[in-house]
Amino acid sequence: MIFKQFFEPESSTYTYLLGCEETRQAVMIDTVGSEVDKYVAALQQHGLTLVFTLETHVHADHVTAAATLRERLGSKSVVHRDAGAQCGDVLVTDGVHLQVGTLDIEVRYTPGHTNGCVSYLVGDRIFTGDALLIDGCGRTDFQQGNAGQLYDSIHAKIFSLPEDTLIYPGHDYHGRTVSTVGHEKRENKRLGGQTSRAEFINIMANLKLAYPKQIDVALPANQACGQVVIKQSA
Ligand SMILES: [Fe+2]
Repeated sequence: MIFKQFFEPESSTYTYLLGCEETRQAVMIDTVGSEVDKYVAALQQHGLTLVFTLETHVHADHVTAAATLRERLGSKSVVHRDAGAQCGDVLVTDGVHLQVGTLDIEVRYTPGHTNGCVSYLVGDRIFTGDALLIDGCGRTDFQQGNAGQLYDSIHAKIFSLPEDTLIYPGHDYHGRTVSTVGHEKRENKRLGGQTSRAEFINIMANLKLAYPKQIDVALPANQACGQVVIKQSA
């Protein structure tokens, strides 16, 4: 498999490129609108055709490149059916497998950060978006977030995987690029060790986080796959 991790510093977002070496078909997970030229260059460099842009959820902190890539490269946008993104070309739900060349991509429904969150399992690695971060997790106070549901999602759909499964998150704010299921089960500050569901809900209720800077722009844009609606001024 061809694999590349991109980092967008403004929102500390990780984007992933996964390509099939045989058919040269590729997917990208959680693209960022400002980075399109880098993605196109990487795809060209490896001789890859972009088939799907996969969203782990409707993001509140950056605008997806899905619509731009669809326009430039003909890729199709994949989102969970409850994500509220009617612009999606392929609406998926738990247990769906996408086959792209030799890549088998399993959709695991992991709501709680938002009600439309999914993780994508590809071989020995899982792309968790904002559901599970390295030593943390996504906030649960916006976009139909629900701490109890997030706890259940992570335990049932991520912590149930083999301990050496690689975890590639949607963000990291400290330069860490990858973790494992075993590490997060033991060490995650919010969920690791013996943290109970009730303790986790209590932790999440007391984070006192600031209102997300980009949310008012990013949410409507991402519900349209990144097509920014320009309002005419009077
Ligand atoms: Fe998010």
